[in-house]
Amino acid sequence: MRFDVITLFPDLFTSFLKESILGRALSKGLVDIGFTDIRTFGRGPHRVTDDRPYGGGNGMVMKAGPILRALESIERIGKKSHVVLLTPQGQTFEQSVAWELSRQDQLILICGRYEGVDERVRLGHVDRELSIGDYVLSGGELGAVVVIDAVSRLIPGVLGGEKSNLEDSFEDGLLEYPHYTRPRVFHGMEVPPVLLSGDHEKIRLWRRAESIKRTLQSRPDLLKQARLNPEDKAILDRLQGK
Ligand code: ADE
Repeated sequence: MRFDVITLFPDLFTSFLKESILGRALSKGLVDIGFTDIRTFGRGPHRVTDDRPYGGGNGMVMKAGPILRALESIERIGKKSHVVLLTPQGQTFEQSVAWELSRQDQLILICGRYEGVDERVRLGHVDRELSIGDYVLSGGELGAVVVIDAVSRLIPGVLGGEKSNLEDSFEDGLLEYPHYTRPRVFHGMEVPPVLLSGDHEKIRLWRRAESIKRTLQSRPDLLKQARLNPEDKAILDRLQGK
């Protein structure tokens, strides 16, 4: 998978992308990331990339020209190349969207700044607008990092064990069960005895029940869409005192 990030601040990405799982995926050649600095495509001695909004109002708007010239400069890779604009006006980015995007050959991520991006970028050149949540950030760069991280984890070979992301939170619409590691007692809190029992079936059931319990407590909205089998429904009924 190739990611291309169109941004005014390519340096914001370097340390994050060097580390950990993403760093390894890059060095193994499973993902490849390029940066295109919008400033390079600004015109005039000051390489201007923003301007005042038509109609008045506060703040500055990113000009369409530099962004579109940056976009045109990027080599299209593979059959499926998708252009994404990071903006608070976009569709909320969630795990199902990450799976969809992971099937592309190339993702080109445009990071807006200031009050926003000239509407004509969105109208003619963007396949999808994504928001990482209902809050306003100073720019799309953090959103791009979030998308790159979540999508890369789904690419075969990026995580150590192929199966490990299938148990992650959200994969079946539920939050993940709690994890414990050594020591067995920490600040007076014991590891739940079932995890030490060696009984894999009991452990599986306990984890499933904890997963449903957490979802019920923290994100009851997710339960409406979750893929629950009859065993899960029985657990949920018990938790709800039915
Ligand atoms: N740019 C500013 N706020 C954003 C958000 N919530 N998601 C994605 N891009 C953004």
